[in-house]
Amino acid sequence: MLRRLASHQPESFAFTPANQAWAEAQITKYPEGRQASAIIPLLWRAQEQEGWLSRPAIEHVADMLGMAYIRALEVATFYFMFQLHPVGSVANIQICGTLSCMLSGAEDLVATCKSRIAPQPHTVSEDGKFSWEEVECLGACANAPMAQIGKDYYEDLTPEILERILDELAAGKVPTPGPQNGRYASEPASGLTSLKDHEKDRMPQNASVELALALGDTVKRIDGTEVPLTAPWQGKGGKPAAASPQAETAKPAEPAPAKAGTAAPKAAEPEPADSGETAPGTAPARLEAARDGKPDDLKKIKGVGPKLEAMLHRMGFFHYDQIAGWTADEIAWVDANLEGFKGRVTRDNWQAQAKVLAEGGETEFSKRAKY
Ligand code: FES
Repeated sequence: MLRRLASHQPESFAFTPANQAWAEAQITKYPEGRQASAIIPLLWRAQEQEGWLSRPAIEHVADMLGMAYIRALEVATFYFMFQLHPVGSVANIQICGTLSCMLSGAEDLVATCKSRIAPQPHTVSEDGKFSWEEVECLGACANAPMAQIGKDYYEDLTPEILERILDELAAGKVPTPGPQNGRYASEPASGLTSLKDHEKDRMPQNASVELALALGDTVKRIDGTEVPLTAPWQGKGGKPAAASPQAETAKPAEPAPAKAGTAAPKAAEPEPADSGETAPGTAPARLEAARDGKPDDLKKIKGVGPKLEAMLHRMGFFHYDQIAGWTADEIAWVDANLEGFKGRVTRDNWQAQAKVLAEGGETEFSKRAKY
């Protein structure tokens, strides 16, 4: 498969302070001169933070490791586990399309993804929540057909079950992973033929599913609040992890009341997501120009670079309080209309950040970011 960088790229990338501390700790695992060995965990962390690997992220990691950009690009483009295009803000659905799964109905699952998410793989859905791709054997052939969603496997799938899982994910739930047809693990469909004595003592779910349910982090993005953030050998003298911007702004923001003059009698033209198609949600109130000709610096919001800021201005959004006041319906509309950046509002929790900034505060990101 041809693996190329996405045509739309963000302006910049930075690890959250906590993820930066984690990345620096990883580098200490390797002897002097061998820091490049840390490239896969660092690229992975960048992807866990952002959902995918942008060119600025790859180059940022290369800079941290003293590597030529082309060496880091070689790694990122070689391994399929690295997503080179934006993924859905909730989940990227990886359908196994290898022999066992294909013989057991993987094509029907792909058809479900095409109709439910997007006709083409590596394309974010209209609502910005999902993307999908076909992948090679994921090693769960006895439970074919299956899909990996986030950190977990969903097995013994049918199109109807996949639809239900997507519904649950879209509603913010964590569907129960593992076999979906009543099987405990990968025993014969007709039931166990041996070791039956243990059936009465076992947990309701197999151990993998029990653990996944306990963690509940199937599609959770790494936000730097995880522990431990430093390597064990660094001990108490290790670099302490700073609070992440997401942690600081994790609580959902109350919609801020619109300031006088927020609603414009004649709204600026939005950039349609796809010509001829209807975007979900409701368009928020927009302005023709910044109030008093002074727009807020939207680049203080994590995930907004100069290109995205210019796009927001063209759409009629200039101020933190506008973003802070968006309803869920309005966020859905903006998410779907950010061409090349769909789902970014939800993914980076702009609203919580904007609320802090609108009230004159600073987030961890706005404090450390260079504009
Ligand atoms: S063929 Fe699908 S998991 Fe192996």
